[in-house]
Amino acid sequence: MIRTSIASWMGDMRLRRKFTLVLLVISAIGFIACWAVVSQMMFGQATAISRLRADAAIEMMNSVRHYTSTRINALLSDELAASETFIAETVPAYSAREVFEHWRTSPQYLSYFYKEAASNPTNPRDMADAFEFGLLEAMRADAVANANMSGFTMRDGVEVFYTARPLRVTSDSCLACHSTPEQAPASLIATYGSQNGFGWQVGEIIAAQVVYVPASDVVGTAQTWVTILMVVFGVTLFVLMLAARSLLQVAVVVPMEQIAGTARSAADDASWSPTADQIASVSSIAVRGDEIGQTARHFKHLLQEMYAREQRLRQEVRRLEIQIDSAKREKEVRQITESEYFQDLQAKVKDLRRQKPGAAQE
Ligand code: HEC
Repeated sequence: MIRTSIASWMGDMRLRRKFTLVLLVISAIGFIACWAVVSQMMFGQATAISRLRADAAIEMMNSVRHYTSTRINALLSDELAASETFIAETVPAYSAREVFEHWRTSPQYLSYFYKEAASNPTNPRDMADAFEFGLLEAMRADAVANANMSGFTMRDGVEVFYTARPLRVTSDSCLACHSTPEQAPASLIATYGSQNGFGWQVGEIIAAQVVYVPASDVVGTAQTWVTILMVVFGVTLFVLMLAARSLLQVAVVVPMEQIAGTARSAADDASWSPTADQIASVSSIAVRGDEIGQTARHFKHLLQEMYAREQRLRQEVRRLEIQIDSAKREKEVRQITESEYFQDLQAKVKDLRRQKPGAAQE
């Protein structure tokens, strides 16, 4: 039902408009599809680059953590136990953050950021912000599905890419400092106080290890590429459409209108016959090798036939007119010769001849 109504609606349209409409619809669909694929690809690429940066940074920090707990901690554990002030260098979380802070003093890494964001941190600078609280909650709700979270987010008005992994209390050894203030070394309490970073349980996810890497550069590049490609594709489609329209106009519409105009005159007037000019104009189309040329050739034959028939008819009419003329003249002569007056005149002429001396005897 809809198909037939669309078909009849399209059927009523002029060829050029129909052509333009179809091209427009196809171009629009092509443009949107291309845009979807290109932006998917470009932003996929931007995500992959960002993920690579973030993963590299977080792996590096895990190496620092590992080095601190296996090498530094072993070396300094005795000193730590004897020391009055806490030796923070023995804590993996501390060394990781410190190494990272040093790394980002070089300008190209300034926008990188590392944090072990906890809801109950020993060091207040590790306190999770609202965004990181969200990550922590998601990890606590489903640790398996959210073992490696990542994505784009805004940080201080700049677009960044983040990767977040859960940090768990892996062994009882952690509880030496993180269970109760009473159990923790006195030096720790002296440095960090007895309020934060306690009451942790083995197996509990206590922090989200988050790294933020700059993304506005790669996202900007992706955006630029999408724009460039879409402009090139859009202009190509536009030029293609204009070219197709002009070709249709020159190759189909104009010659068809020429043929149709002549055909219309023939249809409107039963006594119409083509002029030599009209035949010449159809002949100029008939030289073409395409379908329109073929149609024009058939039409030209028809016109030539009509023209020849018209010429024959004219000759016949002229012949008939001459015949009628001579018949009429004969009739008039007969009328004259048969009239009484003429008979009278003839009789008088005869008499005169008879009276004339030397006139022929009858
Ligand atoms: C010797 C005491 C001590 C032990 C043992 C210890 N930590 Fe800590 N931990 C600290 C201190 C002190 C800090 C704060 C470091 C800083 O200033 O950044 C800290 C910080 C952290 C942080 C960063 C968040 C925060 O609280 O500021 C995490 C995560 C963490 N520890 C996990 C662990 C885990 C897991 C273990 C067991 C494998 C462990 N810790 C064992 C003392 C300890």
